[in-house]
Amino acid sequence: MGKALERVSSCEILRRHRRLTFRDGPYAYTITREDDDSLYEVTDGQETFTARLQWAFGQGGAGQTYVFEKNGNWYESRVSFFNDAQGLGLTLGATSAKPSSLEQAAGRLMSPVDARDCFDCHSTGAVHAHKLDVEDAIPGVQCENCHGPAAAHIQAIRAGNANAAKLVDLARLSTEEMSDFCGRCHRTWAQIASQGLRGVIDVRFQPYRLTNSRCYDAADKRIRCTACHDPHRPLVVDISSYDSKCQACHDSTAKVCRVGRRNCAQCHMPKVALPGAHYQFTDHEIRIVRPGAPYPD
Ligand code: HEC
Ligand code: HEC
Ligand code: HEC
Ligand code: HEC
Ligand code: HEC
Ligand code: HEC
Repeated sequence: MGKALERVSSCEILRRHRRLTFRDGPYAYTITREDDDSLYEVTDGQETFTARLQWAFGQGGAGQTYVFEKNGNWYESRVSFFNDAQGLGLTLGATSAKPSSLEQAAGRLMSPVDARDCFDCHSTGAVHAHKLDVEDAIPGVQCENCHGPAAAHIQAIRAGNANAAKLVDLARLSTEEMSDFCGRCHRTWAQIASQGLRGVIDVRFQPYRLTNSRCYDAADKRIRCTACHDPHRPLVVDISSYDSKCQACHDSTAKVCRVGRRNCAQCHMPKVALPGAHYQFTDHEIRIVRPGAPYPD
């Protein structure tokens, strides 16, 4: 999470890929590296939109999207770098929208609130008094984003009293509190439930999926986010290393798995491809997966 945002000047992906191209209908896209700058050009054959990319969002496990300012407006690039293709593709969410102008083909014009929220989840210290101040942005989710005043602030709001502001001992959060804490960026159960997001689109919202699982118990710390993930380290991708987390509960219960003894998550937390994301997310709704069964909402 510490690398969730980079300045384009120091962006590893754009350094390695000095010229990226993509075509969508009449629009041709190029991103060209010049020293520490990356120049973004979009042309319909007649006119050309140009901008200097400023911010690279995402360390690139799935992909990376670029954010830039032009004439006082913030834009999200309509093309992103995708790890699977090692090249450009349409940004998640952009696929269905047909641009009606060159400007729209270049990027999504963001409201000040949209731009602020991007930086709030992907960097540290960029938001003061609800306003975006990119000069102060420390790229990535750094210590104080979780341990600092921001965390205290959330606690205070949740608890509805001033004393709670001192509560920054994150290890003491209950399972439900931890889901909400991580859900500040990964989205909470309540956010997804109230937005009514259904179908595979909700697979990337782990707090929601996990809460819907029969394994979930709001008071049992063995199913906290941090029971399986250390937020200070990169994601562990060796699936067998999660077995002990499952067995913390499932060894002692009467219902033992008749099918497998190892790699529990491989079968019970299936990978689900999210269309447009170029990535397979891990379904945190832990369950028995029957062949051909629909994705459970
Ligand atoms: C301030 C926002 C924020 C908070 C709070 C947050 N995350 Fe994240 N997390 C992110 C972002 C952004 C990414 C995507 C990083 C990337 O791939 O560029 C991410 C990625 C991850 C990943 C994948 C990392 C990898 O190496 O691929 C895990 C696992 C994760 N978060 C777990 C957690 C857990 C557990 C918590 C709560 C203890 C948490 N996060 C709280 C923003 C946040
Ligand atoms: C509410 C918090 C939040 C907001 C707002 C947000 N992100 Fe993210 N973003 C995340 C989290 C958490 C992840 C990691 C899990 C996932 O991919 O869903 C992520 C993942 C990504 C990734 C994939 C990273 C990778 O390594 O593959 C990209 C690219 C990205 N975000 C770009 C953006 C851009 C651009 C914006 C603003 C237009 C934005 N995000 C707004 C929380 C947020
Ligand atoms: C994404 C959120 C996040 C980030 C970023 C983060 N931490 Fe933590 N940290 C946590 C959580 C959650 C815990 C409690 C883990 C648990 O469940 O035991 C924790 C625990 C700790 C602890 C153990 C003491 C305690 O409060 O339980 C230390 C020390 C610590 N973090 C230091 C750091 C430092 C230093 C950084 C920056 C390099 C950092 N953390 C970044 C979320 C985060
Ligand atoms: C019982 C263990 C377990 C718990 C609890 C758990 N996860 Fe995961 N998580 C996994 C496994 C397994 C993976 C996939 C690892 C791999 O193969 O890459 C994963 C992957 C992820 C990823 C990477 C993106 C993806 O979909 O693969 C994120 C982000 C994440 N978890 C966030 C969370 C958050 C937030 C919580 C709490 C709401 C949570 N996890 C609780 C086991 C768990
Ligand atoms: C906090 C304890 C806890 C943890 C950790 C946990 N489970 Fe569970 N799990 C339960 C409980 C309780 C049930 C429901 C009661 C029952 O039927 O045994 C359950 C049910 C299940 C079921 C049956 C679900 C269904 O649809 O009938 C499967 C499969 C399962 N767990 C697999 C796993 C796997 C795999 C992991 C690790 C990735 C895991 N569990 C982690 C407690 C846990
Ligand atoms: C090869 C895939 C696979 C692996 C690996 C696997 N399981 Fe299962 N598991 C299944 C299937 C399929 C079922 C449903 C079997 C049935 O119909 O009774 C199941 C059933 C279960 C149940 C429900 C049992 C019941 O009677 O309700 C639990 C709990 C469970 N598994 C936990 C685990 C745990 C914990 C692990 C790792 C130690 C694990 N599984 C490994 C495929 C797997």
